[in-house]
Amino acid sequence: MKRILVTGGGGFVGSHLAIALKQHNENCQVLALDNLRRRGSEWILPRLAAHGVEFMHGDIRNASDLAEVGPVDLLLECAAEPSVHTGYGGSPAYVLESNLLGLIHCLEYLRQNGGKLLFLSTSRVYPIAPLRALPLQEDASRLFLPPQASGEGWSATGIAETFPLQGSRSLYGATKLSAELLIAEYAELYQLPATVLRCGVIAGPWQMGKVDQGVFVLWMARHLYQGKLSYSGFGGQGKQVRDFLHIDDLSDLIQLQLAATEKWDSTPLNAGGGVQNTLSLCELSALATQVTGCPLPLGSQPETRAADIPYYVTDHARLTSRCGWRPQRSVATLAEDVVRWLVDYRAQLEPLLRA
Ligand SMILES: NC(=O)c1ccc[n+]([C@@H]2O[C@H](COP(=O)([O-])OP(=O)(O)OC[C@H]3O[C@@H](n4cnc5c(N)ncnc54)[C@H](O)[C@@H]3O)[C@@H](O)[C@H]2O)c1
Repeated sequence: MKRILVTGGGGFVGSHLAIALKQHNENCQVLALDNLRRRGSEWILPRLAAHGVEFMHGDIRNASDLAEVGPVDLLLECAAEPSVHTGYGGSPAYVLESNLLGLIHCLEYLRQNGGKLLFLSTSRVYPIAPLRALPLQEDASRLFLPPQASGEGWSATGIAETFPLQGSRSLYGATKLSAELLIAEYAELYQLPATVLRCGVIAGPWQMGKVDQGVFVLWMARHLYQGKLSYSGFGGQGKQVRDFLHIDDLSDLIQLQLAATEKWDSTPLNAGGGVQNTLSLCELSALATQVTGCPLPLGSQPETRAADIPYYVTDHARLTSRCGWRPQRSVATLAEDVVRWLVDYRAQLEPLLRA
């Protein structure tokens, strides 16, 4: 590939993947386009430059910003409003315009100029009510699914692509599912080569963790910098569970996919840390205390917000059977990598992540 465009290239995932793509394809021009809406993205620009990634200020809501880029061989679409809580009690305009209209502009840009699409979708396409209805049990530190239990699209190894899709899933999830459907149409109608990854929670250094997105980094930062934290939702006990994917494992997956683009189809595939890499919030606190050496008393907010889910673990068996990929890095490694970064860049990061 000679030219690659990463939209949302100033964000956590986009910047990491842009740098990794440049490192693996030295002679390729890698462009990162971003509207710099995300808090802290300005810290990422010198890092992009140091790795030979070219930055373009632009907004995917404007088709003309994409047209200015000129043809590329690959568009890696990582620009989004990524909060699942967006639009509840407020305007849905930004999430709809960026995540959906922006994606339509990306598709049109590729239809007109050629080039492949790699799209980052989300596990939040799976609807909220059926996830809440899973027969979860509870022990001292977490919720869990009984080992022998299973149902349509779920088992103790997680949520598979066959999980039913009926029901509300948040505006964020709805924009991503709509995007998946449009990508399938462009793939069929215009032979647009595309691949879609439905990612679970991703984490790693350079993620500017917030309460509603980037929980792993937020937990490590608030422990290290002694900020405030609360368990929120589902009684405020911190027993809700997620699997965590190290950003380097996602990067490895994308290198694998780029090495075999002839095998691409637009069928969405689950990508996540999987059942080996799960933590409840209580367990995340224990891990953060252990790795930072800084215990933190946590508050409790029992109220559950409309888009909260108690449990999500990625079943990535379909992806593993297609290309052999599986996560290589544990949550302990992830914690060490994140805390090392928080220590090394404390002067910049503490004002941003401690509050
Ligand atoms: N981080 C995760 O856990 C996770 C999980 C599943 C899927 N994803 C998906 O991965 C992608 C990247 O997420 P992230 O975690 O890096 O989020 P992020 O907020 O760190 O990065 C998103 C970037 O997109 C930019 N952006 C937003 N709207 C834009 C627009 N209209 N035009 C141009 N740039 C715009 C932001 O400024 C930001 O730099 C998103 O599509 C997200 O839905 C992330």
